[in-house]
Amino acid sequence: MLISLGPQAFIAPAPVLLVGTYDAEGRPNVMTAAWGGLCCSQPPCLSIALRRSTWTCRALQQRKAFTVSIPGRQMVGHADFAGLVSGRHEDKFRTLGLTPRTGEHVDAPYIEECPVVLELLLRHALELGSHVLFVGEIMDLKVRKDCLTPEGLPDPVRIDALAFVPMVKEYYGMGEFLARASAVGKTMKHEGRYPREVLKDE
Ligand SMILES: Cc1cc2nc3c(=O)[nH]c(=O)nc-3n(C[C@H](O)[C@H](O)[C@H](O)COP(=O)(O)O)c2cc1C
Repeated sequence: MLISLGPQAFIAPAPVLLVGTYDAEGRPNVMTAAWGGLCCSQPPCLSIALRRSTWTCRALQQRKAFTVSIPGRQMVGHADFAGLVSGRHEDKFRTLGLTPRTGEHVDAPYIEECPVVLELLLRHALELGSHVLFVGEIMDLKVRKDCLTPEGLPDPVRIDALAFVPMVKEYYGMGEFLARASAVGKTMKHEGRYPREVLKDE
């Protein structure tokens, strides 16, 4: 039986994204965002939703560029701090001992210590209510060398990204490998649960 909890902003897991911007004075800042995710494949785009009161929201509207750094499990404290304190009052990079590197393609700083970094140009902004939805086009994906598979793809186990669960407000680590996508689903047809015609590549 499903129990209704009403209209709640909930999804599990949500990503833990560290959004990097330069403010109007050119100071690098980073904030944690869990309201975000991929939203287009071509051009590759990612969206984040920011409260208007955040320093990052203001910076993004001014500079039209941002980065997203994805922290590994050992950075859970850094990620939480960046979501508790505003760059309006504090140099979070310095407090956290993190290194701001200017993006190669965009006017925004990323976190050198993170295993995965995206550089984005702002393409759309949509006022939703408490939050503004920003859609950025991904200009570059960087993955730390030791977090690549031998085939040169991002290795989820080595990246060891964090997951956030809203409402209970808890962080989790990456779970274990379960199955390959676009493959395990095809085994279902043998159990007769899906008609053959809905499966691609048949
Ligand atoms: C796990 C976590 C997720 C968060 N997700 C968001 C989010 O998606 N959007 C948002 O506006 N604030 C979010 N916050 C709150 C901001 O990170 C926080 O207000 C931060 O201090 C803003 O920093 P800034 O003023 O330097 O931009 C989150 C905080 C935490 C701890």
